[in-house]
Amino acid sequence: MRNRYWTLADEAVPAWPRESAFALKESKVPPPGLGQALTRTIYVSLDPYQLYYQRERTGPAGAPCHARTVSQVIESRMNGFEAGDFVFNTNGWTEYALMGEGIWRPDYMVPRKLDPSLGRISQAVGVLGMLGLTAYAGMDLMASPKPAETVVVSAASGGVGQIAGQLAKQRGARVIGIAGRDAKCKFVTEELGFDACLSHLSPTLTEDLAAACPAGIDVYFENVGGKVFEAVLPLLNQASRMTICGLIAYYGDRDGGVDNRAALMKLGEPIFNARGVTVKSLSVSEFAAKHDEMLAYVAPQVTTGKIRYREDIRQGLKTIPTAFVEMLRGDNFGKMLVQVSPDPTLGARAPGRLLKVNPARKPE
Ligand SMILES: NC(=O)c1ccc[n+]([C@@H]2O[C@H](COP(=O)([O-])OP(=O)(O)OC[C@H]3O[C@@H](n4cnc5c(N)ncnc54)[C@H](OP(=O)(O)O)[C@@H]3O)[C@@H](O)[C@H]2O)c1
Repeated sequence: MRNRYWTLADEAVPAWPRESAFALKESKVPPPGLGQALTRTIYVSLDPYQLYYQRERTGPAGAPCHARTVSQVIESRMNGFEAGDFVFNTNGWTEYALMGEGIWRPDYMVPRKLDPSLGRISQAVGVLGMLGLTAYAGMDLMASPKPAETVVVSAASGGVGQIAGQLAKQRGARVIGIAGRDAKCKFVTEELGFDACLSHLSPTLTEDLAAACPAGIDVYFENVGGKVFEAVLPLLNQASRMTICGLIAYYGDRDGGVDNRAALMKLGEPIFNARGVTVKSLSVSEFAAKHDEMLAYVAPQVTTGKIRYREDIRQGLKTIPTAFVEMLRGDNFGKMLVQVSPDPTLGARAPGRLLKVNPARKPE
């Protein structure tokens, strides 16, 4: 079987990767060995953390770039999986892949069978998967907003941010989002029901945020860092809580990550100490045991529309590098995915529904 996949080109992955950092290759897919299953990728999830994997060249050399995926089993010699099953797995940027015995994957990303009756299978890499768990852990379990508290969520229209803000609303909090362009802010207030949403592109962000938070900020769900954090910092209340989920504004720094987290802590320290702010870093892998609890809470609400969730689904394997670069710089609108083969669960209405998710984009 002929397979196409994206792997890292020879050049080092630059700060914000260019499309030229990736190379399209072809291979033959071997039949599954004992304990393995052959799967066809349907959706490839594009997430900011993949940049770190690419820079570190995590995973086997020459393999498809890592990604969480939704796939369908074609042939199985793996216990618990049968041909036709829909699965969450980590095929990466590829059309087909083996999973199971001897196939590399990150420790906590264990393949699991999906139940399409719980929601759209694409959501298994989003609101009904790692992103739902990230929002649930960082907002409900770590920050635990209380009624009438003021909660601020950055990257509010993105995969994690849109869920985190809605969970805070359900706790009775007043929720302010921060996002990029106007259309995103409009979506955050009109579709997701946040109380307000401000643009970090505005030169008056600091003043806008102070005006939107007259009683200060009790909970900050940090996805960004940089000037957004600097606008939030002076408004943090006594005994407020901050969950550091991500710092995407710094990911473009070649040595970003640890040093920038330290720099952010140093900048915030005087206020954190003076006001007794509780700052906690979130790593979703530490909450893997809470996945089913999150699913039981979130999935029925997604089905009934009580929790709204927007996806930005691009079409075709060839679009992956461009979609990835665009997601990092904020040109996604909702959780970024690429559909690389038909989704049999969607039926005849599928293409129309999918393409309307982001009508500005032309399918490949
Ligand atoms: N701790 C964990 O375990 C964990 C797990 C999953 C995700 N995360 C983190 O959660 C955050 C959101 O991830 P996601 O997958 O949901 O991505 P996302 O929010 O769907 O996409 C990234 C968004 O970040 C915003 N952004 C990019 N550069 C920015 C900048 N310089 N200033 C302000 N905003 C910027 C853009 O939105 P705008 O157009 O609105 O600027 C962009 O759409 C990331 O920091 C990610 O690393 C952490």
